[in-house]
Amino acid sequence: MQKKKIIVGNWKMNPESGKLAEALYKNILKGKFSSKLDVVICPPFVYLEKLKKISKKIPLGVQNISHKDKGAFTGEVSGDMVYDLGARYVILGHSERRAMGEEDEVINQKIKIALAGGLNPILCVGEKKRDDNHDYFNVIRNQIEKDFNGLNKNSISNVMVAYEPVWAIGKDAVREATPEEFREVAVFIKKVLNDKFGVNLIKDIRIIYGGSVNPKNAQDFIISGEADGFLVGRDSLDAKKFTKIIEITEKVN
Ligand code: PGA
Repeated sequence: MQKKKIIVGNWKMNPESGKLAEALYKNILKGKFSSKLDVVICPPFVYLEKLKKISKKIPLGVQNISHKDKGAFTGEVSGDMVYDLGARYVILGHSERRAMGEEDEVINQKIKIALAGGLNPILCVGEKKRDDNHDYFNVIRNQIEKDFNGLNKNSISNVMVAYEPVWAIGKDAVREATPEEFREVAVFIKKVLNDKFGVNLIKDIRIIYGGSVNPKNAQDFIISGEADGFLVGRDSLDAKKFTKIIEITEKVN
């Protein structure tokens, strides 16, 4: 059975004000949505409540949660708190957080907290660079094995994996990844998960692509790359481009 595709917008630390966030959200809501596709927007925490009041049409997520459920953790926000505000997804292990020192052991704890609290984790994995020795396979295997360590078998299929090669992300990207490069890694991720949990537990896990996704390359990633969807950064801040990516994905579905 084909998995339902998903498009996730990662707004990162944007836009600069609540007013701009509302305007962007309203413009995205003007797009065409169908039940054939899941669409999720992950704004900064502080905009969640505002956006939820405007419409419940697009499920919301966040870009991080604490690795603890409550207590003396200055500056942290818990999974239960964001669930209470309406979030149902959480991006975890993004390369920008890994670059700030977040390690797989902590990401693993966050995934466990998210699942226990009813949030669907969007786990980001990906190598910083490619080398001729194909060491990126080891990097990705290591991330997957540590991040999935000890997860409750019944909730594993609620985790989604976003393959985001760091070299293809953001305005400093070396180049775009190709759909073939995505497909190769997606197959590898499935193999690693399969070896760990068995096909039945992991067959519903969606493997999505992230890194300079735009209206021009989206179709190829879905058709040739067989991506189950996208994690979109920059182009999720442009309502026209984001809704175009949604439209294209729906059409080729
Ligand atoms: P990008 O970001 O689409 O701007 O490359 C993707 C991401 O970091 O999730």
